[in-house]
Amino acid sequence: MAELLDRLGRPLGSVRLSVTDRCNMRCRYCMPEDDYTWLPRSSILSFEEIDRLAGVLGTLGAHKFRLTGGEPLLRHDLAALVAMLSRRSTASDLALTTNGLLLGRQAAALKAAGLDRITVSLDTLRSERMRAFARTAGHHEVLEGIEAAARAGFTGIKVNSVIIRGYNDDEVLALLEFARARQLELRFIEYMDVGGATDWSADKVVSRRELLAVIGARYGAPVELSQASDPRAPADRFQLADGTVFGIIASTTAPFCRDCDRARLTADGTFFLCLYARNGIDLREPLRSGASDTDLTQLIQSAWSERTDRGAEERLRVEDRGALYQVESLRADPHREMHTRGG
Ligand code: GTP
Ligand code: 5AD
Ligand code: SF4
Repeated sequence: MAELLDRLGRPLGSVRLSVTDRCNMRCRYCMPEDDYTWLPRSSILSFEEIDRLAGVLGTLGAHKFRLTGGEPLLRHDLAALVAMLSRRSTASDLALTTNGLLLGRQAAALKAAGLDRITVSLDTLRSERMRAFARTAGHHEVLEGIEAAARAGFTGIKVNSVIIRGYNDDEVLALLEFARARQLELRFIEYMDVGGATDWSADKVVSRRELLAVIGARYGAPVELSQASDPRAPADRFQLADGTVFGIIASTTAPFCRDCDRARLTADGTFFLCLYARNGIDLREPLRSGASDTDLTQLIQSAWSERTDRGAEERLRVEDRGALYQVESLRADPHREMHTRGG
């Protein structure tokens, strides 16, 4: 089959599969509200349904699959889905993004099931900060989860830290030291104005430039590494003089839409062409009403070939930029939420 390209010549290469919209944390940059509209349980795809769609996406060129949520480890027996997906020859890279709370218990089973890589979100090294910011007392569990993943044999474990002014911008160097001591690859993420980030404001964004200045003042200017091995990865990678490698994901100030090969599937089978896309394509209805693999392939193929999305770049041009959606609009359609769309 000829390579499937969108209108800007971008292939379909990676898919983020959200397996649940639920989460056991309430990070302020993602889930600051007291209550949420959840996807109806009956709409949540079974593992067989997810695996079938992954198979169709694989025939169209997707080879990187990342399980996300909400918090993916809340989905009962996630290792069983990992085992199904890892059997697919098209899934050459199978990864998981987790908040780590349940990782200690599941790391070994995920490894045995064939998971290739793990990324853990960790924004602070202070448990009281995490309690206030993410409404969880589980800081210790997250650290244990990271250790358990290493013990289970995962290598190249990544840690994602969203840096927000006035919250954790004083921990940039401490997070880097923490990661260096444990051979984890830390990625600093700029605070993004995605759906759900209702408290977002431009002054709270700590930019790539600022991060490099803080790190450079302590260790000397970081050297940017070539992205030759993975030109479509969102993180720019840097190295310190002692060899430590870290990344910066500058989605807010330096978006990378022109290279974006990512699609997203929500837990209820809605297919999104962009993190910022207003609408998605319902694959659940055709899936459940007898569509053949050829039908599903055609649906996805025609959507991708029409894709022109450059959501983050468009946000850059918005004057007086504020939160993307107000809370009423998120309640009206939970698909607009980052935690539904697969962060
Ligand atoms: P690898 O580089 O393959 O390890 O994964 P990744 O960096 O794509 O995955 P991860 O789940 O760690 O994502 C890191 C962060 O990048 C997310 O939390 C988002 O902040 C940002 N990000 C991921 N996907 C997109 C996207 O499609 N668009 C934009 N603008 N940002 C994204
Ligand atoms: N800005 C940046 N990153 C975000 N994430 C969730 N919300 C935001 C936001 N507003 C990221 C988290 C986590 C991943 C799943 O999504 O850092 O690592
Ligand atoms: Fe891709 Fe949209 Fe993110 Fe740009 S904003 S990198 S097009 S998902």
